[in-house]
Amino acid sequence: SKQPEVNKNSKDEQLEQYRVDDSGKSLTTNQGLKMAEDEFSLKAGERGPTLLEDFHFREKMTHFDHERIPERVVHARGYAAHGVFETYDSLEHLTKAKFLSEKGKKTPVFVRFSTVAGSKGSAETVRDVRGFATKFYTEEGNYDLVGNNMPVFFIQDAIKFPDFVHAVKPEPHNEMPQAASAHDTLWDFVINNQETAHTIMWLMSDRAIPRSFRMMDGFGVHAFRFINEEGKSHFVKFTWKSTLGTHSLVWDEAQKIAGKDADFNRRDLYDSIEQADFPEWELGVQIVSEEDEHSFDFDLLDATKLWPQEEIPIQLVGKMTLNRNVDNVFAETEQVAFHPGHVVPGIDFSNDPLLQGRLFSYTDTQLLRLNGPNFHELPINRPVCPFHNNQRDGMGRQSINKGRVAYQKSSFTNNTPAPVSEAEGGYSHYEEKIEGRKVRARSESFKDHFSQATMFWNSMTKPERQHIIEAFSFELGKCQEMWIREGAVEMFANVNLEMAQAVAKNIGVTPPTSGGSDVTKTSPALSMENTVKSAAT
Ligand code: HEM
Repeated sequence: SKQPEVNKNSKDEQLEQYRVDDSGKSLTTNQGLKMAEDEFSLKAGERGPTLLEDFHFREKMTHFDHERIPERVVHARGYAAHGVFETYDSLEHLTKAKFLSEKGKKTPVFVRFSTVAGSKGSAETVRDVRGFATKFYTEEGNYDLVGNNMPVFFIQDAIKFPDFVHAVKPEPHNEMPQAASAHDTLWDFVINNQETAHTIMWLMSDRAIPRSFRMMDGFGVHAFRFINEEGKSHFVKFTWKSTLGTHSLVWDEAQKIAGKDADFNRRDLYDSIEQADFPEWELGVQIVSEEDEHSFDFDLLDATKLWPQEEIPIQLVGKMTLNRNVDNVFAETEQVAFHPGHVVPGIDFSNDPLLQGRLFSYTDTQLLRLNGPNFHELPINRPVCPFHNNQRDGMGRQSINKGRVAYQKSSFTNNTPAPVSEAEGGYSHYEEKIEGRKVRARSESFKDHFSQATMFWNSMTKPERQHIIEAFSFELGKCQEMWIREGAVEMFANVNLEMAQAVAKNIGVTPPTSGGSDVTKTSPALSMENTVKSAAT
């Protein structure tokens, strides 16, 4: 087998039961029937019409007719691989999550990279955020870290997500353009929702055109919680750091490659794994104690803000290696269902209003995309630990649950009584004390949209600044409405006046004369330094 030894893990063994090798076998119908003739449909006479009783023809055609499922509403274009995560040191002082609590512990993982806006067949080297979703198949159940390659997000509250995505996707009257970042509706949304400023800076930066999935970082974006055995909580943000460093394409290359090879990023990942040049990322965590929750000039619950590494350093806690391509893209990559709410004991949520809304959205969409409530039974989604409950039936149910009882509590069954104590691995939600009035309001710092965007600009090297000016000019230059172009340069004058003036000159609008966030902070950790390389080097 081409599979490396490290991959002979519990998930791989589980998947083995589902693998089918058709080569060299007699072909049959789905009922197992061998057919004496396979190339001609059954007809009334040599030149007559096809007969309805040709079950073989009907079965083959019906299956084909039903082969497509809805593409993901976002992140439709994606590519995935299997691998392993190994913990450097025990993190048990911070979390009771078993996959992080033992030095050297190995956990099988499945990672799907994606673009966000384009449809399933769109080009890959486009200006867009990249998804970076990891499923850890732990002994305590699946843990999903559903992140992106940028540390911040466009909006602060999930209630705006449908609006944002509708603005980014092709316009409804003519289904154009595929390119997310170059049209009136996106920029109309941006100027009317100025919380987007920081992430738009990332989207216009070189980070938005990674040269390779192997050469980009990943970010969990939200604050989560680690909970240790004593029940103590710390806030945590997750980062994947590529061991190859962060490298981007320049815009001219990205456009040419999109035309010449729409599969550029997936081909690179597939080929490198086939050649045993396995990509690796180190997992980093930033930790803030509960006591320090209010010690920063931003709110930990605001997903448009990153946690500056200079203030909250990243500790590297393990390494992930992707070492096996999938056997079948539909069965694995397409049917995998990630969800930020798939957690294990020791990991919990913060009250970030973006995260809280995501906790609803993923299962909801998967019920439609994967046709009903049993998609957890698909091989790629099954946890490697057993799962038992009283759920039954539904579209595509595979388990044959025995016995007359499908409810709890029952004296007929001998289930471990629920609840299972925490000592026995029972998940309990962190008992955060909540007090407050029901309001649609946020803390004051949610209104600061520009400080960190300016910090990002301040951290850029000269070529990066030149590139971002060119990117704004190209994308805004596609806007048909001049008031949108003007609104955008006025908005980004709040980030940096010179940048906005240079863009205004390039796109034929009056340069703004004032603006500019007064922040002088810079973050060396945000600079790509000399990593903006051409694909040819
Ligand atoms: C995919 C919703 C924000 C990362 C999806 C999907 C939905 C969704 C409906 C499709 C899932 C599927 O069909 O299986 C939302 C909502 C958000 C939000 C409502 C905000 C309120 C974010 C953020 C991140 C993110 C902040 C990154 C931290 C991803 C990734 C995928 C995804 C990586 C693709 C997963 C895969 O490869 O299958 N999101 N999302 N999303 N989302 Fe989000």
